[in-house]
Amino acid sequence: MYDFKADPGLPTAEMYRELVGAAGALVDGESDPVANMANVAALIWQFVPRLNWAGFYRVIGDELVLGPFVGKPACIRIPMGQGVCGAAAANGETQLVADVHAFPGHIACDGDTLSELVVPVLRNGKVIAVIDLDSPESARFDGKDAAGIEALARAVESHI
Ligand code: SME
Repeated sequence: MYDFKADPGLPTAEMYRELVGAAGALVDGESDPVANMANVAALIWQFVPRLNWAGFYRVIGDELVLGPFVGKPACIRIPMGQGVCGAAAANGETQLVADVHAFPGHIACDGDTLSELVVPVLRNGKVIAVIDLDSPESARFDGKDAAGIEALARAVESHI
């Protein structure tokens, strides 16, 4: 059992430091990408409050394919460039979406989702996956969340 404590009173930046530290400790020395993505999705769920979905899509060929996640069953394949995840994968840039209904081409996997944060995971300059966080609150995510998940992506990029 891994007993990482997520303290709900921690300031956001500190919470992400703890999350990234826990993720680094979990993936260190483990070479199986599915196991590592599964544990990282579980850690995001444990540490980051007010989410309804958290997990990975992997870049395979010219599309994104669903990876390990926590939440309701989701769209399995997303064409590159489509939706929030496809945009992050296509341009390699974090997508911070305060209102998913205002995002052109947003793919509604879970009707409860109102805002979304998608961070590309890069290895050797190439997007290999994205980390997707969904929230049932509008404008749930800010720059601190983006910076925190970007740090997480860097911590796990060579382990997934
Ligand atoms: N809403 C995403 C699709 C993935 S689900 O939210 C899990 C998108 O527009 O890319």
